[in-house]
Amino acid sequence: MRILARQLELDELIAVLSREHQQQRKRLAELMDALEKNDFEKGAKLASDFDNSSIQHIVDEENVLLKMFIDAYGRNGALDAIQVFHQHRTMHTLADAISKQSLTSPEGLGSTPSDFERLVCTHFSAEEKRIFPWALETRNKLREQSKI
Ligand SMILES: [Fe+2]
Ligand SMILES: [Fe+2]
Repeated sequence: MRILARQLELDELIAVLSREHQQQRKRLAELMDALEKNDFEKGAKLASDFDNSSIQHIVDEENVLLKMFIDAYGRNGALDAIQVFHQHRTMHTLADAISKQSLTSPEGLGSTPSDFERLVCTHFSAEEKRIFPWALETRNKLREQSKI
């Protein structure tokens, strides 16, 4: 099934995305805690919950924000967003690996959980500090231009 972006006004969408980051940060903290306590069943579930709850979020970021940046600035101008959003694939790969490995051979998890944690933190903070404000600024600019 193809997932469509939520039909929200940009300010509202960004508020929703920021709230979801907070929920995902909590889930991530629980995941790291479960793995630390060797509760791999819970860890596997939390990693797969994290991954599944990212789907709609990522569709919104890529179909609404990324599309707007590329329409407004072209691919070169949108490079920062392209690079940040490219991390979605790696996040998915790592979450999936944690979920599978926790159930099959948790001793082989190695640095995957901490790599995942670091990537998620970097990713969320890049979106909140740069990408979301840039999206609002771009929307305002486009609105101004359409008035002329
Ligand atoms: Fe993202
Ligand atoms: Fe995000």
